[in-house]
Amino acid sequence: MTRGSLLVDHIGELVTNDGRDGDPLGVRRDAALLIEDGQVAWTGPARHAPAADRRIDAGGAAVLPGFVDSHAHLVFAGDRAAEFAARMAGERYTGGGIRTTVGATRAASDDDLRATVGRLRAEMLRQGTTTVEIKSGYGLTVADEARSLRIAAEFTDDTTFLGAHVVPAEYADRPDDYVGLVCGPMLAAAAPYARWIDVFCERGAFDADHARAILACGQAAGLGVRLHANQLGPGPGVRLGVELGAASVDHCTHLTDADVDALAGSETVATLLPGAEFSTRSPYPDARRLLDAGVTVALATDCNPGSSYTSSMPFCVALAVREMRMTPAEAVWAATAGGAAALRRTDVGRLTPGARADLIILDAPSHLHLAYRPGVPLIRQVLHNGVPR
Ligand code: NIG
Ligand code: FE
Repeated sequence: MTRGSLLVDHIGELVTNDGRDGDPLGVRRDAALLIEDGQVAWTGPARHAPAADRRIDAGGAAVLPGFVDSHAHLVFAGDRAAEFAARMAGERYTGGGIRTTVGATRAASDDDLRATVGRLRAEMLRQGTTTVEIKSGYGLTVADEARSLRIAAEFTDDTTFLGAHVVPAEYADRPDDYVGLVCGPMLAAAAPYARWIDVFCERGAFDADHARAILACGQAAGLGVRLHANQLGPGPGVRLGVELGAASVDHCTHLTDADVDALAGSETVATLLPGAEFSTRSPYPDARRLLDAGVTVALATDCNPGSSYTSSMPFCVALAVREMRMTPAEAVWAATAGGAAALRRTDVGRLTPGARADLIILDAPSHLHLAYRPGVPLIRQVLHNGVPR
């Protein structure tokens, strides 16, 4: 018995994501899981459970890895509820509202921004998210991007520099100059706080040439590549991401066969963000087509005040099953192991020895209930680094 060890016992269904025996979820029935030093130390049949200092009785419930939300924009001020209402009355989403949030974010204090990130991070944790990526992208000046990332880094290691979210109004007639700013002083100020670089590669934001230039500068500064691609229409983003070895291309709503083929032959994850299609009343991406082609698929919230103001991974799982033809097992895998793959992390998204002890005890006997009982608060308890929250 190790001091400080914690046994989670009487697990009806343990989702390990160990991929054994052809079952990607690696489900074990009547299981137990031992935690030592914040990590999973052992999993196995409950009847073989070792002794431990403390014990949590899961009472036959399902236990799964904490969700890995690999795409979120949490550093912002204000909201755009009126824009949402206008969309529900028939207006189209163009991304134009990003500049509204940029104005509010620049005017906010550090403490206001920190409070918003903290509130949303806490909201996420209550809904089972134990790992989150956080982007900048609503500052769009050297100082505002740097402080956005500095604040984001207080909450996560997976911080992403998104200075190329849109061209801010003051650069509207000279986008080349803005790209120069992003690649030069803005990247220099952001890089110490960032692990990743991202670009919104879309008509009305950044074209392929600008995106390639910015991502190459980021790579040269040691950042990993991810990008927003093919959200509002077909375009070059997905293939550019694959060409640059991006960890993930995100949205993937409008794909050609060539895009799917490129993804299928690559290490790049396709991260689908169904909260955005829900909140912009747009057609959903075709997850089935990607999965059938052998592409690795992740699910994330895209939590932001414009296109997807949800922090709920269970909601995204339910949407993916109902609207994107994913099986419940595929959706749960995509929201856990898929998110970890999109962040190129092997320490989270699975419950196998050595992994971080980030787990969810459901108020349900099986992972199926996440999609079967949409909108219901099924997260009974969350352990983060082995600590009950
Ligand atoms: O991922 N598409 C670009 N960025 C966000 C939306 C940002 C906003 O509308 O404020 C997204 O959907
Ligand atoms: Fe996004």
